[in-house]
Amino acid sequence: MEGVITIDGPAGSGKSTVSILLAKQLGFFYLDTGAMYRAVALQAEREGVGPEDGEALGDLCRNLELRFEEGETGLQLYLEEDDISSAIRSPEMDMLSSTVSAVGEVREAMTELQRKMGSRGRVVAEGRDMGTVVFPNAIHKFFLTASTRVRAERRYRERIERGENVPLTEVEEDLIKRDEQDSTRNIAPLRPAGDAIIIDTDTMNIEQVIQTIHDAVRMKSL
Ligand code: DC
Repeated sequence: MEGVITIDGPAGSGKSTVSILLAKQLGFFYLDTGAMYRAVALQAEREGVGPEDGEALGDLCRNLELRFEEGETGLQLYLEEDDISSAIRSPEMDMLSSTVSAVGEVREAMTELQRKMGSRGRVVAEGRDMGTVVFPNAIHKFFLTASTRVRAERRYRERIERGENVPLTEVEEDLIKRDEQDSTRNIAPLRPAGDAIIIDTDTMNIEQVIQTIHDAVRMKSL
């Protein structure tokens, strides 16, 4: 699959920052699939649909009018006319998006939508199952990882910058719980594709990670 770069990995592995920058440098569309699962969680909460009701969640997903739009502060996510970019980033949505993303009906609908959004190519697709399930034929696949402590520290800093007052231990516990949920679910669990390049970002800065990806992409394209 030409023009699709997949970037998967656990929370805090640096994949969002890297994907956004990489997409910008290449002039590719950035497909933030985590934001899409977060939108499902937000809408489920607004409509009072519980994670146990697969059928209702499936209906909700099929009726979801989602679109990404370039805004002043980057890519914004709209649910119909509502800019939900901030609302989906709460700690509550961290957990609820992980929970609803384990539901078969949700994955089925989202996978279809993500493939549609990526079908024109020239896309950096970021998530948990981009290389394994959604775009298994992508030529360029990456899996970013880092130790739990480093990932928790990154998330902790983000939340402090947002003005939240939260202990690092709590951030770390939430992260471990979410990783566990994302990697042990039955459908499309978080794991690297067999042909993905694994990048351990523990001791790397963003520029080094991006450079590693550019080098790998160039090598395969030669
Ligand atoms: O990347 P993120 O933290 O915004 O993702 C939120 C949740 O969505 C994550 O905990 C698991 C789920 N997710 C998924 O199951 N598959 C994806 N491709 C992307 C996210």
